[in-house]
Amino acid sequence: MKKTPETLRSARWFAPDDLRSSGHRSRTMQMGYAAEEWSGKPVIAILNTWSDANPCHAHFKHRVEDVKRGVLQAGGFPLELPALSLSESYVKPTTMLYRNMLAMEVEELLRSHPVDGAVLMGGCDKTTPGLVMGAVSAGLPMVYLPAGPMLRGNYRGKALGSGSDAWKFWDERRAGNLSTDEWVEVEAGIARSYGHCMTMGTASTMTAIAEALGLTLPGASSIPAADSNHIRMSSAVGRRIIDMVWEDLVPSKILTDAAVGNAVAVAMATGCSTNAIVHLVAMARRAGVDLTMDDLDRAGRTTPVLANIRPTGDTYLMEDFYYAGGLRALMAKLSPRLDLSVLTVSGQTLGETLEGAKCFNDDVIRSLDNPVFQEGSLAVVKGNLAPTGAVIKPAACDPRLHQHQGPALVFDSYPEMKAAIDDENLDVTPDHVLVLRGAGPQGGPGMPEWGMLPMPKVLLKKGYRDMLRLSDARMSGTSYGACVLHVSPESHVGGPLALLKTGDIVRLDLKARRIDMLVDDGEIERRRSEWRKPADKAGRGYGWMFAKHVRQADTGADFDFLETRFGPSAPEPDI
Ligand code: FES
Ligand code: MG
Repeated sequence: MKKTPETLRSARWFAPDDLRSSGHRSRTMQMGYAAEEWSGKPVIAILNTWSDANPCHAHFKHRVEDVKRGVLQAGGFPLELPALSLSESYVKPTTMLYRNMLAMEVEELLRSHPVDGAVLMGGCDKTTPGLVMGAVSAGLPMVYLPAGPMLRGNYRGKALGSGSDAWKFWDERRAGNLSTDEWVEVEAGIARSYGHCMTMGTASTMTAIAEALGLTLPGASSIPAADSNHIRMSSAVGRRIIDMVWEDLVPSKILTDAAVGNAVAVAMATGCSTNAIVHLVAMARRAGVDLTMDDLDRAGRTTPVLANIRPTGDTYLMEDFYYAGGLRALMAKLSPRLDLSVLTVSGQTLGETLEGAKCFNDDVIRSLDNPVFQEGSLAVVKGNLAPTGAVIKPAACDPRLHQHQGPALVFDSYPEMKAAIDDENLDVTPDHVLVLRGAGPQGGPGMPEWGMLPMPKVLLKKGYRDMLRLSDARMSGTSYGACVLHVSPESHVGGPLALLKTGDIVRLDLKARRIDMLVDDGEIERRRSEWRKPADKAGRGYGWMFAKHVRQADTGADFDFLETRFGPSAPEPDI
């Protein structure tokens, strides 16, 4: 059903001739607006995750004006509503602790305000899933506006990639190969414009997923933040959301099973961040699509990696990806694996939005018959250490570790691990398996990005750069190495990882998708009977609520009570 000025949601606040509505009109006039500026027009919430503490979104302070310009041009009334910024750079112990808080904030902002549609401004890692999860639950027409990647980094003429090169150069520094002055040059060159990380880390993966779900304008996710095309895209978003309100193009018409399938395929073809798994599952479940770890493993086995972008590729960055044709070019090449009939926010089908998409560099965006990797973006392993699953990125680890067994070296906390790892007398060999536990959704809390445990200094000095690592934490999307992550159930709730001891043999058999401890069942049961649940870290406040309600990683780490199946949403507010 098409909307009319009388059936707009915002009309419930503004139209009636009663005292309440009079108050709403009077307060809008208090801001300097005349009735003709809002009356009968779609009111658009612009959810802006700008903050002074978020360098990835620095341009959003101004870019929001371009969105407003588009809204006004198309006959709407824009209202900027700031939302939690989730700065990956500063927020500790992890922004993941607050992804669900942002999702809840978004849903309630939209529910409680007199708005008809929403523009979601995000990009830095968890802002994408947080905004999308909340807006899906709110159910109003919405468009996602991705922040865009920052420009390539630069160090002495060499391109630097966010995260990935920081880890690499830091290991060289720890091995004694880089002076302090040289390191400062790396610091100054690695993030030299606003925009999100420009590797295919969590941010670029998640904005690509948002586009593949049909939630952005065509091509929007690849435009660098500092490119003037980004400004024009922003005003186009402002214009488009007005049509979407009149068309009543709500997210449930876009986020179908098929759209989620497209997003999974695109994620794999980008060589996606391991974090994509947990966010994809959470977003899909909000849309009522039951995406499982097995579905994701199947997609990982059968989808070639086409984006030759670091850290999975070894040369290019997001700026190169944009110049090569961006995500539209990638999706055109992947189109035999996509359902092109799905609707997008543009009002066109995915197939229509890909018409005319061209690739200008076949090395940056590979074809299905010449991929970067035939498979292996992500794999899901299970076994007596991870009964409901764990995640590994085979393409980003030393192939000698794909089949591996060695003795565990177990750390119960991040500080304990950090104190030991640079100890020159640490009893560790390249065959050891480094284990960190107590870092899952409840135990972390919030699954901090501690899963790429640093290489022990003694091994770095001997020239080793990879070893098997295992944890219930996550790792940054720009990380790499043989890291088995998101072990579920986590140790804090009594998952078998809690029962592992230093010296036990751990075996990874990637081909069989197994991760096991070679400890006999009787001994495991004996240890289980002695195990006691550790106390939650927070005894009050948000952290307390988080630990009580967060679900395990394999089901998306959403709050149980925010999940769609938990119960019906509150009705529209009484006014
Ligand atoms: Fe914001 Fe990487 S720090 S995307
Ligand atoms: Mg990150």
